[in-house]
Amino acid sequence: MTENGDAPAGGASESALDEDLRVPSCERCPALVESRSRIVDGVGPTDADLLFVGEGPGAQEDEQGEPFVGRSGDVLDDALRDAGLARADVRITNCVRCRPPDNRDPTGEELANCRGHLESEIHRLDPELIVTLGKVPSEHLLDRSVAITAESGEVVDARIAGASRRVLLSVHPAATLYDRSQRDGFFETIARAGELSGTAGGESGGQSRLGEF
Ligand code: URA
Repeated sequence: MTENGDAPAGGASESALDEDLRVPSCERCPALVESRSRIVDGVGPTDADLLFVGEGPGAQEDEQGEPFVGRSGDVLDDALRDAGLARADVRITNCVRCRPPDNRDPTGEELANCRGHLESEIHRLDPELIVTLGKVPSEHLLDRSVAITAESGEVVDARIAGASRRVLLSVHPAATLYDRSQRDGFFETIARAGELSGTAGGESGGQSRLGEF
């Protein structure tokens, strides 16, 4: 049992590998320790080819103990389904594992404090493709400023967790709630993620197409 209490709702695998990726306790960020109800670890298979990285848990995620289960999660689920992907086929995690107060962005120090957990997860998965959901995870993992609306849909290589990784930049699913005109682009980016990683049973027939980029 972790300080989280129950296992995440919605079903992270109970395998030993998955257990290894849980953060049982952490007190590094005083403001987040104060605002969180629990630590929200990543969910999904530990051998997933496709890893989605968001910013940090919101209210619903903090309550349920699973990333992307609120309104943003509904959009992500819709886009995954549209792309022929099941949530159970992909891994979903965040840059920080504790809910920031008032849903503010995590600070640089908080991102840095949580970096080791994220890097361990990336190292263990060694995914074909990482999809950064929004500006915060894009800038955090690429270590540069990102104009996310302009760069969404681009595939770049970045050195992360000791290796060169393919990263597909995306707007955050919440952006489609504030601005409906971003919805089609977001859905296209998620479909591209499935195709590039070979996760979806689309045109690639389950084969990664990243060698083409
Ligand atoms: N937004 C995020 O970035 N992560 C979540 O888990 C939920 C909303």
